Amino acid sequence: MDNRPTTRPDRRTFAIISHPDAGKTTLTEKLLLFGGAIHAAGEVKARGAARRARSDWMKIEQQRGISVTSSVMTFERHGLTFNLLDTPGHEDFSEDTYRTLTAVDSAVMVIDAARGIEAQTRKLFEVCRLRSVPIITFVNKVDREGRHPFDLLDEIASDLALDVSPMNWPVGMGGTFEGLYNLATKQLTKPDGTTAPADLSHHEPVGEELALIDAGYAAFDEVAYRHGDLTPVFFGSALKDFGVTELIDALARFAPSPRPQPADPAPVSPDDAAVTGFIFKVQANMNPMHRDRVAFMRLCSGKFRRGMKLNQVGTGKAIAVHSPILFFARERETAEEAWPGDIIGIPNHGTLRVGDTLTDGPPKTITGLPNFAPEILRRIALRDPTKTKQLRKALDDLAEEGIIQVFYPEIGSQWVVGVVGQLQLEVLISRLEAEYKVDAKLEPSPWDTARWLAGNAKDIDAFATIHRGALARDRDGALVFMAKDAWELNYVKERNPALRFSATKERA
Ligand code: G4P
Repeated sequence: MDNRPTTRPDRRTFAIISHPDAGKTTLTEKLLLFGGAIHAAGEVKARGAARRARSDWMKIEQQRGISVTSSVMTFERHGLTFNLLDTPGHEDFSEDTYRTLTAVDSAVMVIDAARGIEAQTRKLFEVCRLRSVPIITFVNKVDREGRHPFDLLDEIASDLALDVSPMNWPVGMGGTFEGLYNLATKQLTKPDGTTAPADLSHHEPVGEELALIDAGYAAFDEVAYRHGDLTPVFFGSALKDFGVTELIDALARFAPSPRPQPADPAPVSPDDAAVTGFIFKVQANMNPMHRDRVAFMRLCSGKFRRGMKLNQVGTGKAIAVHSPILFFARERETAEEAWPGDIIGIPNHGTLRVGDTLTDGPPKTITGLPNFAPEILRRIALRDPTKTKQLRKALDDLAEEGIIQVFYPEIGSQWVVGVVGQLQLEVLISRLEAEYKVDAKLEPSPWDTARWLAGNAKDIDAFATIHRGALARDRDGALVFMAKDAWELNYVKERNPALRFSATKERA
């Protein structure tokens, strides 16, 4: 029986990008709460036993020691399903954090009103920019004393080279906060939640500010937003529920539905009948007794059903997806199928790798999934020198899985591993020992930055004769320049304008 609905249900698949402490967790809780996905704020943080017991796939999680609980959170509002993908921060910060952004259609950028744009926000923003991911900005914590809204808007515009379009305006901040003024409807929402039309033209200093907003900032332009050239800015407070429903409404109204995905030989459209998706993250078991992994697939086209067979493009291997982890809001039933924009967790034993395309249709390879330059480099040394072959195999495997990156210097035999977050180094050492019986240790590296080199062959050859000692190959053989620090990188870049030193590389 074909019980397919005639229309595909719509999705908003997005992530929150922010610097630690800006309020991502608090905002996530409120989004889920207003979307009816959880019953009390605090559950995201608490990850309580009750929440864990709610579904049987979480049992799998417990048995396998793989925590996927908060990787994808789903909520519903305005008849739409929202998929919120977690971008781990803090000590969990890793390449996965970046890769998750390749699986979303839009992002919410949370900024602390007292701090403005911070380092991690900027890094994550750059990844969004690579793929022109549209961004809605939420300036959080207006219930506290913060920087002036103009100051914050100008910083976003100049720091990120982005047009800003304020959507609401805080009338006072901290102790003087009187509410949020909606610039389109000209209504004021007071701290008690009541909303009414308001004439603020004589309110000092807000009247004057409103005149300056009109004159100084772009009006919201949906096309520019969708291209990633303009960000609508909402002021609010996640903690006090100010501006949160406005943010959800904006996601529903403006954020894009699942977009066509660039692929070889032809793009994958969400309306294609064939089921096609790509793996953007592989979560390994921290328990060395198990080799189980969960591969996270972003569905790009077709209607996925539990038990389907999908082919791994490249190897042609058929993968029967019997016990997928389907993320869902309230209805357990909806977990039998998934639609473009949804994320499916596929338990496997290491067959599935980051960047793989899976499909039940003609083979297509999804493209545009970059590798990101590591931010921490370490030399790796064997305690037992007879294990060189095993180490090389292990490093290649783990690099292919996406746990680390590995660089083989052109001169010398000491291999270098690169990661984005410290935790990845710990995972590396424990997996080398548990799975490959290789006892290795990490040592400081003379380099702290790696950049992929691109340019014409003659320029690269000329560069290589001078800088051979700072060149390495990644596991695909691509040439990488290693710099001691940012100063050296800039210096070398300036002296070699014909070459590109790229912080990202599209998967080969
Ligand atoms: P993160 O996930 O981005 O790291 O931030 P998180 O939500 O954990 O928030 C960081 C701190 O900022 C928390 O305080 C949180 O309560 C506070 N916070 C978040 N949103 C707002 C807001 O709108 N207004 C105000 N005033 N504070 C906000 P904490 O004391 O570090 O943690 P907790 O003890 O409250 O959990």
